Amino acid sequence: MYSSKIVSLGHHVPDTVITNQYLSNLMDTNDEWITERTGIKERRWIDPKVDTVANMAAKATRMALQRANLTEKDIDFIVFATITPDYFFPGSGVLLQRELGLDGRIAALDIRNACSGFIYALSVADQFIKTGMYKTILVVGAEIQSTALDITTRGRNTAVIFGDGAGAAILQRSDKQGILSTHLHSDGRFAEELYVKDPGSSRPHAERQPEQILDTTSFKVVMNGNQVFKHATTRFMEVIQEALDQNNLKKEEISLLIPHQANLRISQYIQAKLSLRDDQVYNNIMRMGNTTAASIPIAMSEAWAEKRIKENDVLCLAAFGSGFTWASALIRW
Ligand code: ACO
Repeated sequence: MYSSKIVSLGHHVPDTVITNQYLSNLMDTNDEWITERTGIKERRWIDPKVDTVANMAAKATRMALQRANLTEKDIDFIVFATITPDYFFPGSGVLLQRELGLDGRIAALDIRNACSGFIYALSVADQFIKTGMYKTILVVGAEIQSTALDITTRGRNTAVIFGDGAGAAILQRSDKQGILSTHLHSDGRFAEELYVKDPGSSRPHAERQPEQILDTTSFKVVMNGNQVFKHATTRFMEVIQEALDQNNLKKEEISLLIPHQANLRISQYIQAKLSLRDDQVYNNIMRMGNTTAASIPIAMSEAWAEKRIKENDVLCLAAFGSGFTWASALIRW
């Protein structure tokens, strides 16, 4: 069995900064409410004339390749996590493959596990490297949420949370065991607590008439915030502990925890429960908002560039999201 290691990271976020003040011009909200409940001060939203999920992913990928002195041709396989693909189908993996000029040469796989998507994608990539099938895998999380938000007062409980962006990790076969373990879970009983219904195929034909389709509320995010908060805090703790137990490590030995940037209050709850110092937890939700599958790779890429992740560090990734799904990864850098 081979081992895998993250050899590089990159990210890309759109230029347009959306402040809480700006949102208060669109809907009945204010900076104080958003800051207190979510910790978010600003987020990035795309310019639809410039950005697509696939081209943001390509920019993040090129940063990662450049930082490791690799080229597109070194990539053997793409695993792409997103719940906001450019098209309903095909998935974003093939569009990224096209952007990278790797026509017809490599396979691309799409993962739709929302906020846990990046760790699911990392786990899939890790298994392909362990078995010897591939040597270099591009793992991407990228989202455009802004175009699916209800930016009126009706949608304010979710519209203020989400942002756009992309992050990329390059995973390679290695002599050293970088990815120590990954842990994946799901519980579909809670699917409708955080979801977007359409364009779902479960609607009868009669409900697919033009006037119904024009009622776009079913295309917007529905979230039961209290339920999400309750389950997220429990599952984050469980899945982090599971990763530590499997590797005989104690919580004090975590060099850096990068939680999915769901909500600063959730990250702070986990930090307090694990008694971690501020320098042991990385948060960027204040600047980026919640970018779903992109949040962990963007945060990792920033933390690495800021030298917050060093050789031999124990890095813990953890996520919770729609499904519900939750996951963790423990990495020796
Ligand atoms: N601005 C001002 N007022 C608002 C806003 C807003 N943006 N959104 C909701 N409100 C109002 C509501 O209308 C309600 O008013 P009312 O009491 O007059 O009816 C009041 O604030 C409380 O509304 P709730 O929806 O109950 O808000 P809550 O206090 O639960 O906070 C929040 C919402 C922040 C989402 C909270 O539920 C939470 O932290 N949930 C955790 C889930 C989460 O963070 N999800 C992120 C994405 S999912 C993921 O990544 C896993």
